[in-house]
Amino acid sequence: MTQAQADGAIAHPKTPYILEARGVTRRFGGLVAVNNVSFAVQPGEIFGLIGPNGAGKTTFFNLLTGLIQPSSGQMLHNGEEIWRSRPFQIAQRGIARTFQNIRLFGELSALENVMIAHHIHTRSGLVKGVLSLPPAPTEERKTREKAFELLGLVGLGDRASEQAKNFAYGDQRRLEIARALALEPKVLLLDEPAAGMNPNEKGQLSDFIRDIRQQFDLTVLLIEHHVPLVMGLCDRIAVLDFGQLIALGDPTQVKNDPAVIEAYLGAE
Ligand SMILES: Nc1ncnc2c1ncn2[C@@H]1O[C@H](COP(=O)(O)OP(=O)(O)OP(=O)(O)O)[C@@H](O)[C@H]1O
Ligand SMILES: [Mg+2]
Repeated sequence: MTQAQADGAIAHPKTPYILEARGVTRRFGGLVAVNNVSFAVQPGEIFGLIGPNGAGKTTFFNLLTGLIQPSSGQMLHNGEEIWRSRPFQIAQRGIARTFQNIRLFGELSALENVMIAHHIHTRSGLVKGVLSLPPAPTEERKTREKAFELLGLVGLGDRASEQAKNFAYGDQRRLEIARALALEPKVLLLDEPAAGMNPNEKGQLSDFIRDIRQQFDLTVLLIEHHVPLVMGLCDRIAVLDFGQLIALGDPTQVKNDPAVIEAYLGAE
């Protein structure tokens, strides 16, 4: 059985895209937060999603990860409809994310925060998690080793036992990335990963995102307000304004688009 059948999803004819939004709309009462947005992401792309505050960027990620439901439209992953998928099913498909408002377990250690995500990835972990049973010892050991490895990758290897709440903002963002990677995703959604990072950390973040794309064969969707980072890193960029897609193209096209300059970039 394919993942689509398992999710009760409708398979669409073969598509070269890893993600595709078709006329995606989400209303909150009278407000249209995401308004008839269509675009497609190719495997391996670093794809930017930018626009002013309140443009609908985070709402789009929330739709994509099953946290909220669409008002209308379609969202496809590898050509399969994922609208009715729940967040854990999205995670099991290999779509992982970080949050603009960091969502770590503050009282738990960095290591435990990453280990929890890895448990979700393993089916037995999920079932046992629901039944509150401990995982098998060998599984536990592997999960722990993997979590240590990921903490090392994000530069937090020597702080594994520290409580997450004691980490500086930038370090918490990196910890969230480690936790997302523990799901062994193929698609990684990053919601403002550079927020709260110092200029030095922001500089390193670009190289880091490129490295993990290579190492884990990832497709990356990136929401970010730090324009130099977005322009330097992304293969293509979609620009939202008041929920609508106002531009889509490579960084040079987007940077010089009058509508984007007017709505977002200003005289910069
Ligand atoms: N759960 C919700 N209920 C009501 N309105 C919401 C909800 N979530 C988002 N909105 C509204 O939808 C619009 C888009 O919000 P969203 O958080 O997606 O913007 P954003 O582009 O991520 O902005 P920012 O750059 O500030 O993070 C805003 O007007 C916001 O107030
Ligand atoms: Mg946002």
